Amino acid sequence: MLEIKDLKTNFNTYDGVVKALNGVNLTIKDGEIFGLVGETGSGKSVTCYSALKLLPKTGEVVGGNILLNGEDITHASEDRLRQIRGGEIGIIFQDPLSALNPVMTVNEQIGEILVLHQDSKIKELASEKEIPVYKSEKWKASPGVEFTIMAFCISFISLFIMLGQFTFSLPFLFVVGMMFLRDYLQKDIPDSALDLMVIDALSRVKLPNPKQIAQSYPHELSGGMQQRVMIAMALAGKAKMLIADEPTTALDVTIQAQILQLIKDIQKEENMSVLLITHDLGVVAETCEKVAVMYKGKIVEENTVERIFRHPKHKYTRALLNAIPKGGKERLKVPDVGEMGSI
Ligand SMILES: Nc1ncnc2c1ncn2[C@@H]1O[C@H](COP(=O)(O)OP(=O)(O)OP(=O)(O)O)[C@@H](O)[C@H]1O
Ligand SMILES: [Mg+2]
Repeated sequence: MLEIKDLKTNFNTYDGVVKALNGVNLTIKDGEIFGLVGETGSGKSVTCYSALKLLPKTGEVVGGNILLNGEDITHASEDRLRQIRGGEIGIIFQDPLSALNPVMTVNEQIGEILVLHQDSKIKELASEKEIPVYKSEKWKASPGVEFTIMAFCISFISLFIMLGQFTFSLPFLFVVGMMFLRDYLQKDIPDSALDLMVIDALSRVKLPNPKQIAQSYPHELSGGMQQRVMIAMALAGKAKMLIADEPTTALDVTIQAQILQLIKDIQKEENMSVLLITHDLGVVAETCEKVAVMYKGKIVEENTVERIFRHPKHKYTRALLNAIPKGGKERLKVPDVGEMGSI
């Protein structure tokens, strides 16, 4: 259970102090899908970044408390926060590429989280199946390093051959030969327990061909696949809660629907709680049980989705509801602050 109590966050800018959150109160219970909606700039992202201490240097939590399962994490140490992020709480963003490490394969990134959070399970699986624990291949560096060594050797071999100095290319030929021999001798070694668990995490988010995807770098995958990898990382960390900040905004409509369905399925299977941040009440209606509406750094209304849709109390909520396209024909228009005046 995540409780946010009277949270106040300021930003120190050249133009003075910007009060982004003016006392936010939110409670997300275990196993619940909770929607947080509001117009651009209302403070949805700042709420979740404040809760996880992911604010930029100019941002500061100036008041309130954040409780995770009763533990006050408002002033938690950086070590504890690292355990929480990616461990107890998984986070996915609008742009998954910025959250993934560009120079590590999917296998390495998910593997790292598994070793950190599920090490005993990896070892159990290895002894049960009598397979290697972490690495199925010995004397092998990461794919990037392997590639660099190979490219380096081949360049020198061609250079010396061009210069007519064949003997000088022999040491490089030897290295390349040994690399091939190593791969040949190890070709029958089964996947390690860690590899199997990475593949399992990728299959759980319904990625096709998980073995091949595990060997890919993030930029080689589509936006939808990257988002699935982010969800797989939350699963690998055994997250009890998922915070998703506009997870589908950057995706096209069909992929959007698939990712939302996946979040719903995973929530059910793992009994996770989900905080889904969006500016789209249509998404909330399809996905969430409860919803809070944010406006100018405050929660102005909170209720079950059904009640909010039937009896919106706040003027801004009514305006948001009117902005949902009817029959998919009208364009979605989110009311802006000027239009609403002060409510
Ligand atoms: N780095 C920053 N520096 C100064 N002010 C900021 C910064 N980030 C956010 N803010 C302030 O906090 C307010 C809330 O921003 P936030 O990003 O939480 O909005 P949001 O509801 O997530 O909007 P969106 O739907 O566009 O993502 C903004 O109006 C802005 O004034
Ligand atoms: Mg935002």
